[in-house]
Amino acid sequence: MKVAIIGTGYVGLTTGVCLAYIGHLVTCVDIDPAKLELLQRRKSPIHEPGLEELLGTVWNRIGFTSDTSASVADADVIMIAVGTPSKPTGQADNRYVEEAAREVAQGLQPGRNYVLVIKSTVPIGTNRRVVHVVDQVLASRGLKGEIMVRVASNPEFLSEGTALRNMFYPDRIVVGAEDPGSVEILRRLYRPILEQTFDPPPFLPRPEGYDLPPLITTDPVSAEMIKYAANAFLAMKISFINEIAGLCEKVGADVTEVARGIGLDPRIGPRFLEAGLGWGGSCFPKDTAALIAMGRELSYPLRLVEAAREVNTLQRERAVEKLQETLKGVRGRVIGVLGLAFKPGTDDVRESPSLDIIRLLLEREAHVRAHDPVAMANARKALRNAEVEFIEDPYELANGADALVLATAWPEYRQLDLRKLAKTMRTPVLLDGRNLLDPAEAREAGFIYLGVGRQ
Ligand SMILES: NC(=O)c1ccc[n+]([C@@H]2O[C@H](COP(=O)([O-])OP(=O)(O)OC[C@H]3O[C@@H](n4cnc5c(N)ncnc54)[C@H](O)[C@@H]3O)[C@@H](O)[C@H]2O)c1
Repeated sequence: MKVAIIGTGYVGLTTGVCLAYIGHLVTCVDIDPAKLELLQRRKSPIHEPGLEELLGTVWNRIGFTSDTSASVADADVIMIAVGTPSKPTGQADNRYVEEAAREVAQGLQPGRNYVLVIKSTVPIGTNRRVVHVVDQVLASRGLKGEIMVRVASNPEFLSEGTALRNMFYPDRIVVGAEDPGSVEILRRLYRPILEQTFDPPPFLPRPEGYDLPPLITTDPVSAEMIKYAANAFLAMKISFINEIAGLCEKVGADVTEVARGIGLDPRIGPRFLEAGLGWGGSCFPKDTAALIAMGRELSYPLRLVEAAREVNTLQRERAVEKLQETLKGVRGRVIGVLGLAFKPGTDDVRESPSLDIIRLLLEREAHVRAHDPVAMANARKALRNAEVEFIEDPYELANGADALVLATAWPEYRQLDLRKLAKTMRTPVLLDGRNLLDPAEAREAGFIYLGVGRQ
């Protein structure tokens, strides 16, 4: 099938590369010339394991352009995967989605049938809104009734860092549509994934025991809601264990043991029960805010989701308080922050807990040094006016520091020589904000070790 994807970010690019891999002809559209320039040289603008390699292997079936009209004209399926950032009110800003829908409608050709898929995470009711926007443009072109456009919602559940795995081996594919025709076209589009008939990329074998993913077909409003409910639930789960972690500290329990003990109950499950500095990234913060804003619009407060956000903010503040207490104030202290990405496996620093902690430390007039294996460039941009020293080598970062904060659970931080780190510090305080290290080993190496929810 011919597929055009509008928006070539984390979602659009991963989707495009995977669809090309399973045999479709894909055109990815973006308005960012820097991104397009990199892609045309077969370079991925984002750090996502395996993505650049796979891009090279599908090169004859994928193209990149800024021309929406040309790319959609002869497409069978058009996907909108542009950003939906938060407005100051918390509502998701649908401006880019609507803009993309208008541009798409300008390029559609008479006598053809299209399925227009909304992949972005959008406020409930956006599907209806996009139908209206497209109709308006077609009417203004005098083509109403001459082009069939069916709009479907197909929310995306990939996680950055494991995006390719999530695309090739999803838990489920959700399609919300009013008419069975568009569902059938999307079933055809995803058939190699639904039936697992593709040859796995060599570096991404099919997981053992992987079951065929169900295609969940529903109405557009429910599909839109599924995405928000999934993210809100995951955010609440993390906030729950973080809240329990705080109490563990008060009573002397170990939250990692508690999480293991409750996670083995299949009704609870072990994932997303890691206490730490809280969640961040481009999805949970904005999607929980959007859900709350939708509730507010309808006079239906979402108290659990609100509480999850509050706990998440507190988690950053508590970490900084711990440093304040241990160092007897952070003003003028040198604090080295290990990890800037919002989680390991990505260079995405949007709403990263690490950046929040850096800002809190700067407000308290600490001197901040920072390191990340892949996210330094993005963090530099995000913190452009802040006085942060970016250091390539973690040992240099520790030299003369008063404390280290391990803020992102990069596996490479597990390999650090703790003795070597502690030896050159002014005061060897280590706040392990991800409970990544063994407290006994860290203490043995000379650190004053502070974990989250454990002694
Ligand atoms: N990042 C994730 O992990 C993830 C997971 C699931 C769902 N989502 C959702 O998917 C959507 C996209 O997220 P993302 O992280 O890929 O965003 P992103 O910011 O990485 O990418 C969006 C891209 O769209 C481009 N764009 C904006 N307007 C455009 C237009 N009119 N025409 C062409 N390109 C345009 C931007 O230049 C940008 O490259 C969001 O709604 C997000 O909530 C994201």
